[in-house]
Amino acid sequence: MNELQEKILALKEEKGAAILAHYYVPAEIQEIADCVGDSFFLAKKAKSLPNETLVFCGVNFMGESAKMMNPEKTVLMPDLSADCPMAHMVTKETVDAAKAEYDDLAVVCYINSTAEIKSWSDVCVTSANAVKVVKELPQKNILFIPDRNLAHFVASQCPDKNFIYNEGYCPRHEFMSAEEVAALKEEHPDALVLAHPECNPALLAYADHIASTSGIINYAKDSDAKEFIIGTEIGVYYALKQARPDASFYFTPTQPICVNMKKNTLEKLYQVLSTGENAVEMPAPEVVAQATKTLDQMLELAAK
Ligand code: 13P
Ligand code: SF4
Repeated sequence: MNELQEKILALKEEKGAAILAHYYVPAEIQEIADCVGDSFFLAKKAKSLPNETLVFCGVNFMGESAKMMNPEKTVLMPDLSADCPMAHMVTKETVDAAKAEYDDLAVVCYINSTAEIKSWSDVCVTSANAVKVVKELPQKNILFIPDRNLAHFVASQCPDKNFIYNEGYCPRHEFMSAEEVAALKEEHPDALVLAHPECNPALLAYADHIASTSGIINYAKDSDAKEFIIGTEIGVYYALKQARPDASFYFTPTQPICVNMKKNTLEKLYQVLSTGENAVEMPAPEVVAQATKTLDQMLELAAK
């Protein structure tokens, strides 16, 4: 552990704060975080941790969701400009058009979305619970926003539903190509392909297992295989190596690096802990009321 990590841990104790980190943030933050996980795990943790201050090392929609679910807590972020581009990739017109066309419609929004988008929706999902939550919904028609790739994956698992798609995507996952995975597979024929559902469908066609970041890590942990081709952001390498020190992990030459997640640094983490700056603000009350309902609805349906 380096000196700055030690100082952060001491300061965290003094302030009674908890550090939550997504698998995509730099490894030196994951090393000292109280909780490291996928979006679903972190959302649940934000609700159950007793600490009055949470430092969320991730991107905006994560900090914002944590704040809405815990209005009494202070949620700090090392860098408030860390934003997920996909979280904005749907318009109100798209949602209104689907609502006008279908009576029996559920608007399902990926947690990678702004509070405002959540407020137009009925229920939220993450990649870890989307299939389960959609199956629990009574409605036949599902407008799935903003991610088209996750939408197509969930639709393939829910054949009884009629999906309406939106053209959002994650730039990191969209641009890793099937050709790159095929070339890796030729080099390492015994390797299993583990991919995130945000990847494009051509790449997903090569996958032996499609899952959230935690799902990918757990699968590798429990597998007998010794080699894996990984279709998600490179930050998962730290947890994969911890889970399987004996295994080899290969990423595509188009390195999937989320520049926003990498805005989280130890220096900024120390700064926000010592000053209390970068507190996540509560969105407008008319947004919070419905957006919080969509998040609560997700927790309820996912727990069924
Ligand atoms: P997970 O919920 O699988 O961690 O995914 C979050 C994310 O942003 C993927 O790009
Ligand atoms: Fe958003 Fe993609 Fe980064 Fe995930 S990897 S936070 S979806 S930009």
